Amino acid sequence: MRDVAVIGVGINKWGELWDKSLRDVFVEPALKAIDDAGVDHIDAMYVGCMSSGLFVAQEHLSSLLTDYLGMGPIPCCRVESACASGGLAFRQAYIDVASGANDIVLAGGVEKMTDVDGGGATYALATAADQEYEAFNGVTFPGLYALMATAHMHKYGTTREQLAHVAVKNHANGVLNPEAQFPMEVTVEQVLNSVLVADPLRLLDCSPITDGAAAVILCPLDMAKKIAKNGAAKIVASGHSTDTIAFHSRKDLTEIASTQRAAEKAYKMAGVGPNDIDFAEVHDCFTIAEICVTEALGFFEKGHGGKAAEAGETARDGKMPINPSGGLKSKGHPVGATGIAQIHEVVQQLRGNAGKRQLKNPKRGLAQNMGGSGGSSLVHILEAI
Ligand code: COA
Repeated sequence: MRDVAVIGVGINKWGELWDKSLRDVFVEPALKAIDDAGVDHIDAMYVGCMSSGLFVAQEHLSSLLTDYLGMGPIPCCRVESACASGGLAFRQAYIDVASGANDIVLAGGVEKMTDVDGGGATYALATAADQEYEAFNGVTFPGLYALMATAHMHKYGTTREQLAHVAVKNHANGVLNPEAQFPMEVTVEQVLNSVLVADPLRLLDCSPITDGAAAVILCPLDMAKKIAKNGAAKIVASGHSTDTIAFHSRKDLTEIASTQRAAEKAYKMAGVGPNDIDFAEVHDCFTIAEICVTEALGFFEKGHGGKAAEAGETARDGKMPINPSGGLKSKGHPVGATGIAQIHEVVQQLRGNAGKRQLKNPKRGLAQNMGGSGGSSLVHILEAI
């Protein structure tokens, strides 16, 4: 296996992009990534997208997107693993380059979610849950994460205020991110008083419905050292794991076992542990998710994720900065694009290009992306070079 690096990144302003179609939303950041990398071609492409069929009635993205990017007839593969589609596309691109099959590969992610109404979006997202046991009985994603939150509060005494602190911190970070969908400060009181969505989760505990895309360019490390126009970051680990989709088959609703296993694999591959990570982008689709994930990654003891958020340990100036980009909560969550946007942020931070939200000289960053309520997880670790 060859060592692999990321040499280019691109993203567009996320939000309700009604004046653009899915292909336009994708092509803009893909061209930015190609330009940032300083390459004149790509050899292959992987694109994460959860549900373009339900959101915009368009499948066959592999051909559509290579064509509109002007890169046909290169090979392209659309990758689906619910909200972890982007993370999985990145892993497939990494394996492709590491194996020697291709040299310069684009990993992208895209989702156009606002062309359907709220009910349509909720239906499309719920197809990532167990249809027969969960969705058919009326459970939505806010409902599933509300069950997780209730279990965490019951088992560990996690408080409503601690959940709110996750949203307050991520919105504060998002204010510094020009691409974020909701770059506004919120207070604990505003979170606690926002509209109830699924008890105990309120509007400001939820990631939004978003149109957006992101792209990154990978190549062998040796080549990166010669050609990277704006610097590079080395991929030192890729961990992947699945879990049962249905909650009733899980032993403990407070644990995200797929993330825990993907992280164990990634730490082993990189030869590091949680204490060696300088910052992380994690999948905060709901505030409780960030709490469970930071515990699964080993940053905090089981049951202590909420306390850590409340104490400011996950703030940009805390001992373990989490989601300096603003996370899914503030930046937005175009589901298939999220995993790639996390890599975008990790690379920008490691190259010192993160603008106003730049952390102090980070050397090693982690990205954790998960599908649905944790039925699949990807953990990647990257280092500055
Ligand atoms: N955070 C902050 N503000 C939000 C928001 C969010 N997540 N979602 C919507 N808003 C704002 C809108 O901008 C709008 O503000 P305005 O009245 O000032 O214009 C207002 O809240 C209402 O927006 P609307 O689009 O009508 O909200 P909605 O009730 O249709 O949807 C949720 C809100 C929370 C139900 C929806 O965003 C949702 O389902 N989120 C979860 C997505 C999800 O499950 N993703 C997969 C995770 S695994």
